[in-house]
Amino acid sequence: MTPEDIKNCNIVVVGSSGMLGWEVVESLKNTGLSVAALDIPAIDITKRKSVQSVLSRISAPSLLINCAAYTAVDKAESEPEAAFAANRDGPANLADECERLGIPLIHISTDYVFNGKSDRPYKEDAAADPLNVYGLSKWEGEEAVRSRLARHLIVRTSWLYGSRGQNFVKTMLKLGTEREELKVVCDQYGCPTWSFDLAGCLGRIAERALSGSEEVPWGTYHFCGEGITTWYQFALAILDEARRGESTRIARVSPVPSSSYPTVAARPRYSALDCGKIEASLGIAPPPWEKSLAGLMDKLSNPQQ
Ligand SMILES: NC(=O)c1ccc[n+]([C@@H]2O[C@H](COP(=O)([O-])OP(=O)(O)OC[C@H]3O[C@@H](n4cnc5c(N)ncnc54)[C@H](OP(=O)(O)O)[C@@H]3O)[C@@H](O)[C@H]2O)c1
Repeated sequence: MTPEDIKNCNIVVVGSSGMLGWEVVESLKNTGLSVAALDIPAIDITKRKSVQSVLSRISAPSLLINCAAYTAVDKAESEPEAAFAANRDGPANLADECERLGIPLIHISTDYVFNGKSDRPYKEDAAADPLNVYGLSKWEGEEAVRSRLARHLIVRTSWLYGSRGQNFVKTMLKLGTEREELKVVCDQYGCPTWSFDLAGCLGRIAERALSGSEEVPWGTYHFCGEGITTWYQFALAILDEARRGESTRIARVSPVPSSSYPTVAARPRYSALDCGKIEASLGIAPPPWEKSLAGLMDKLSNPQQ
């Protein structure tokens, strides 16, 4: 964006080149809102001076949406400084700047703040107990926002996928045409979330905050695809979708326990999120994950849509 473009924008989206950030910018633009789309290196949220100088060049910012994060879950175990800088210090810098500018912040967080020992979907006030560095850094980022800025909205989501960036759906679609068989973990439970749905949710919240017609009930919310599944079941559904209209051979999927697929970072066994609060307080109900998956597959096969 040119400095002139930035001047005319009023919703600031940070992390705009990422999977979710890109979708949020598209969604806001489609609703006619003016957007300042920022990512590294134009802004580095880990550096207070960068945040201050970039945001001060925007003439009348009214709301900031932070989709920027360090999201390499396994790598974070060996790079904790980088994870904490982006996921804790970054949101702290943004919240301080929002406080100074008198604008609200919508910040994205994760199901990985929970330990996965529950047997029912986590509500917003369930105790956090992250199992890995990424989850801890995101939890401390949430706390940094809460302690600095009253007008904040923290939206936790899970198992995000979309048309941009690396994600489980795109990996399965690629490997599904390259291999005979895919072994996928069948004992981790969660809720797949299409970045397009979450972007729509954030757009609705932004419009509500900007219109000023109704007070926004600030606080922490959960938003993820409706329904609980496993990575194995999710993979089956993805490859079933891929088989439709596809002449090439698609791999078969076999279930494996997490114990036979060790990862550097521990993952929660169960991280389904209860989305009742966002529906009750903001009137936003996430669609069933199967319907959203079909929506993405349609978009991938008809990119002009
Ligand atoms: N992906 C998931 O499954 C998932 C699940 C639950 C929650 N979330 C949360 O959802 C949000 C969006 O995730 P995503 O998957 O869209 O992430 P993503 O694709 O990795 O995008 C994050 C963006 O932030 C940028 N960024 C990193 N460090 C930065 C910095 N210091 N300053 C400015 N920008 C920086 C990244 O740039 P580079 O690529 O150049 O580093 C990237 O463009 C995050 O808060 C994440 O924690 C994700």
